[in-house]
Amino acid sequence: MRENPRLHWHFGIRLLHWLTVIALAAQIAIAFGPMNGPGMATMNWLPLHMSIGVTILAIIVLRLCWRIFTHPPVRQPKRTVRFATSFFHVFLYAMILAVLITGWLGYQPMPFMPPARLFGNLPVPLPPSVGALSARAFAFVHAKLVWILLGFIGAHVLGALVHFVLLRDGVMRSMFFNRSNTASREQKVPVAVGDKAGSSGDRP
Ligand code: HEM
Ligand code: HEM
Repeated sequence: MRENPRLHWHFGIRLLHWLTVIALAAQIAIAFGPMNGPGMATMNWLPLHMSIGVTILAIIVLRLCWRIFTHPPVRQPKRTVRFATSFFHVFLYAMILAVLITGWLGYQPMPFMPPARLFGNLPVPLPPSVGALSARAFAFVHAKLVWILLGFIGAHVLGALVHFVLLRDGVMRSMFFNRSNTASREQKVPVAVGDKAGSSGDRP
């Protein structure tokens, strides 16, 4: 039987993965940079902060839907390693969603301020009151969760670098956009004669 050596993540997943990285980097830079400034800085930057946040939410939702219909690259790690990797990735998704949701729950415009508008147009629906927690409490949890998310992203990036620099097993390349078959040389996945490695990895 012909084997299908999917060496890369689906193109859409790769695109959305790197879009998440870019949008998240911009979000972090704004949140810890100008938004953290004195006076009205937070209020002034909040509409952009929320607009980027909603963009990230859209990317993540699209990515999760896409993930349902796509397969990860074919590899042969131990079952425990496969399980741990999947668990970690699910956790990353859960954490980023938790940051987004608590951000929204923590939003409460000042009485004298007009509500923030996404991309200058769309009004942000005000969150419902949840339990005994105030919007301030959610904003606090939101800011703390960001640090936990950053810690896990740090571990994720470190893991990716270990694969790239030390193990050289094609895991990092599975998220890249190169269409060369270098990955097939690095990765010990059986390739059937006549199969075009790399390009088949882009199939869903
Ligand atoms: C992954 C996306 C997000 C990240 C990484 C992020 C990050 C942060 C950080 C680091 C802070 C603290 C800033 C400071 O110390 O001054 C903050 C505050 C806040 N964020 Fe987000 N945020 C995200 C998404 C959102 C979304 C989607 C919303 C609302 C729809 C939101 C609403 C808020 C609010 C209301 C605050 C509190 C501002 C204040 O101190 O009054 N965030 N965010
Ligand atoms: C420079 C930063 C990053 C690098 C170098 C990187 C690298 C990678 C690599 C190499 C993979 C493939 C892993 C595998 O096939 O087992 C991957 C997958 C993944 N990455 Fe990242 N990543 C980065 C940032 C992020 C960020 C910010 C998130 C946000 C939550 C994230 C979430 C994920 C998830 C959930 C997967 C699994 C694939 C999926 O379900 O979409 N990564 N990453």
